[in-house]
Amino acid sequence: MKLAVYPGSFDPPTLGHLDVIERASRLFDEIIVAVGRNVSKVALLETEERMDAIRESTRHLGNVRIDSFAGLLIDYAKQMKADAVVRGLRATSDFDYEFQMAMVNRRLDTDIESVFLMTRWDYSYLSSSIVREVATLGGDFANLVPTPVVPIVRKALDRRR
Ligand code: PNS
Repeated sequence: MKLAVYPGSFDPPTLGHLDVIERASRLFDEIIVAVGRNVSKVALLETEERMDAIRESTRHLGNVRIDSFAGLLIDYAKQMKADAVVRGLRATSDFDYEFQMAMVNRRLDTDIESVFLMTRWDYSYLSSSIVREVATLGGDFANLVPTPVVPIVRKALDRRR
């Protein structure tokens, strides 16, 4: 039974995130998608909204659980008895940050592997911050996120106005 944690901010989850979840769900017996709480960023969605957004978007997958975590990712992964931490890679520009994170995590715990999955070509430009910017400035973001995420983002935008 191989368990992977897929952590992130998911503010909001994008089609790129969903692609990584689908790929990981084929490789591992179970995936926990873990929303980082207290990640120092200006948030659009509340943690619960991000979790709902991921839950609604992954209903077609039988081996995906949704959770949130605070503190060190590696402590959370250990607590969940995960075998691996999954991260998506888009362009080479992701590599430096991901490499550093993987190295620090390995120093903190040598047993949990970092596994990197390449996103689909069409999503290699996509990020939550781009979706937030397009959505906040009134652009059409519906084709950048899974369908169930659209009303959740719209609600958050209305709240801001
Ligand atoms: O989607 P993101 O914003 O790239 O996700 C980043 C996240 C939440 C995975 C990362 O910030 C994280 O692991 N935070 C928890 C704190 C931690 O463990 N830091 C040490 C790893 S370098």
